[in-house]
Amino acid sequence: MNTLTTLSDLRAARLSLKGTVGLVPTMGYLHEGHLSLIRQAKAECDHVIVTIFVNPTQFGPSEDLSKYPRDLERDLNLISPLGVDIVWNPTAEVMYPTGYQTWVEVEAMTQPLEGSMRPGHFKGVTTVVAKLFNATQPDKAYFGQKDAQQAAVIRQMVRDLNFPLEVMICPTTREADGLAMSSRNKYLSEAERKAAVVLFRSLSAAKELYESGERDAEKIRGKMKEILASEPLAQTQYVSCADYDTLAELNEIKGKALLSMAVFLGKTRLIDNFILG
Ligand code: PAJ
Repeated sequence: MNTLTTLSDLRAARLSLKGTVGLVPTMGYLHEGHLSLIRQAKAECDHVIVTIFVNPTQFGPSEDLSKYPRDLERDLNLISPLGVDIVWNPTAEVMYPTGYQTWVEVEAMTQPLEGSMRPGHFKGVTTVVAKLFNATQPDKAYFGQKDAQQAAVIRQMVRDLNFPLEVMICPTTREADGLAMSSRNKYLSEAERKAAVVLFRSLSAAKELYESGERDAEKIRGKMKEILASEPLAQTQYVSCADYDTLAELNEIKGKALLSMAVFLGKTRLIDNFILG
């Protein structure tokens, strides 16, 4: 496994790979969710590149960039048994040298949900992911359904900008009680960790309601809010029942829908989602 920092080292190593290349972009502090993406890439491609970069441009001024957990040695130990060819861990100066001034923005799809709560977030994500695609030239790039809007936005960017690669969306990996794995879970106190299962409970209840025949999106949103409100440690920021492709809020569920939510447990903001239909 080749662990590299500079762009020229990455380019040289990439050129030496023959056959198909799968890319797994991450911000590090890896957990089983990230590892499942790497395993899927390994199963489907001849070579795998993992990037670890805590991208400053996707964090808002009041967000947790400086506190975002980092532990490169731990990450490399987790990756090393998986047969990864290259780990690229660029510095902020490599990605955004002095004078940097080019941005990639997806328009309508980044307005609702996470986009409305985190202005500028997706501009940072699409810009860094476009740069990672250009630097690593993958045939397939792997993303998690856990970040549903991010996955949809990246798919849109790849279509719009003709990136010659396939976007692969992998299922959300969960803890035994249903909590979606996230690097941010480590911030939860013991009581908050127990309470955090309420996201999964409310999504499951909404799905059950849908499966019993309910198609009124407002009733589905109401069910999610009701369950979230029953947990005193949880503060709901939004719940959504939206069209899977456009992410516009629905009145009536006809085709595929995305149930999603952002919920604070104390200071920690968690997101989760289910797909219906
Ligand atoms: P990060 O939060 O580190 O996540 C890296 C990838 O792992 C993303 O595609 C994310 O959706 C996926 N992932 C996270 N938790 C998961 C889980 N429980 N199950 C399955 N997949 C999961 O997302 C980012 O980094 C950044 O925005 C990035 C795309 C790297 C751009 O900076």
